[in-house]
Amino acid sequence: MVHRPVLLNEILEILEPQPNENFIDATFGEGNITFALAERTLPKGKILAIEWDPDVYQIGIEKIKQLHMEKRIKLVNSNFKYLKRIVKEENFTQIKGIVFDLGVSNWHYQKSGRGFSFKYDEPLDMRINPHLKITAFEIVNYYSYHDLVKIFRDYGEERSANKIARAIVEHRRKKKIESSRELAEIVAEVKKSTKKTNPATQVFMALRSFINGELENIEKGIRDGFDMIEPGAKIVVLTFQGCEDRVIKKVFRLLKKKGGEVITKKVVRPKRDEILSNPSARSSKLRAIKKL
Ligand SMILES: C[S@@+](CC[C@H](N)C(=O)[O-])C[C@H]1O[C@@H](n2cnc3c(N)ncnc32)[C@H](O)[C@@H]1O
Repeated sequence: MVHRPVLLNEILEILEPQPNENFIDATFGEGNITFALAERTLPKGKILAIEWDPDVYQIGIEKIKQLHMEKRIKLVNSNFKYLKRIVKEENFTQIKGIVFDLGVSNWHYQKSGRGFSFKYDEPLDMRINPHLKITAFEIVNYYSYHDLVKIFRDYGEERSANKIARAIVEHRRKKKIESSRELAEIVAEVKKSTKKTNPATQVFMALRSFINGELENIEKGIRDGFDMIEPGAKIVVLTFQGCEDRVIKKVFRLLKKKGGEVITKKVVRPKRDEILSNPSARSSKLRAIKKL
């Protein structure tokens, strides 16, 4: 296992899975949440899981086969923004809850070779699904200064967006920016590092979010999910960055008008122990809504 699940107990406490109930895991990853739900919904509960990355999906299919769980876990290779269509095609009914564990998994950072992490020297790709047309290489080497500033600000809340965009434009006049490490070094030259995070964290997050349309996917996925669940069922969303969390709050406000009750009056954050043992949990926030 490369990915360690974040706030798993809290997610299960909110969803309260019971024997024979059906759930959706909109972001399968390595399946930690799916398998935990499957265990708690024995003997006949079903899990519909979605994974957009074809490589991660393939690993998941093998794992489900090895565990002989094909009858109870259906994994689909698609984007959760098509949730409505997927649920209809799979004839999946009586949905008691949906979980969205957003972003990418540790597998993407450590094993994908697609430049998601500033820690490795890899080609600048950052697409979750190779069918997408634009890569990080194209953005940093061909987008205008103003577009770069906008992407870093709107998708990564980067305060030094101007300075970083200027440094990128100056650098690429001499030489194309080829790798994740090269990009991280350009950012580090113009932005001071804090003790907690690498100076390129927000730039990498912004590029990934923009390339994969993450904010748009989330809004559509949650709104569609709310239409598909039963009264009394819940949607739980785990975010790792401010822009995502703002989208969740906005969507939940809209869903309140459609009969939703926000059940996390205060956002749920990981405890100190979890952050110490799994630093990726640091910026996570959990919110949940119930359909009345
Ligand atoms: C944070 S990881 C999930 C980790 C998982 N809960 C686990 O514990 O193993 C998010 C996963 O969602 C996938 N993903 C991202 N955007 C998606 C989308 N729009 N539709 C479906 N899957 C998506 C990513 O490829 C990644 O594998």
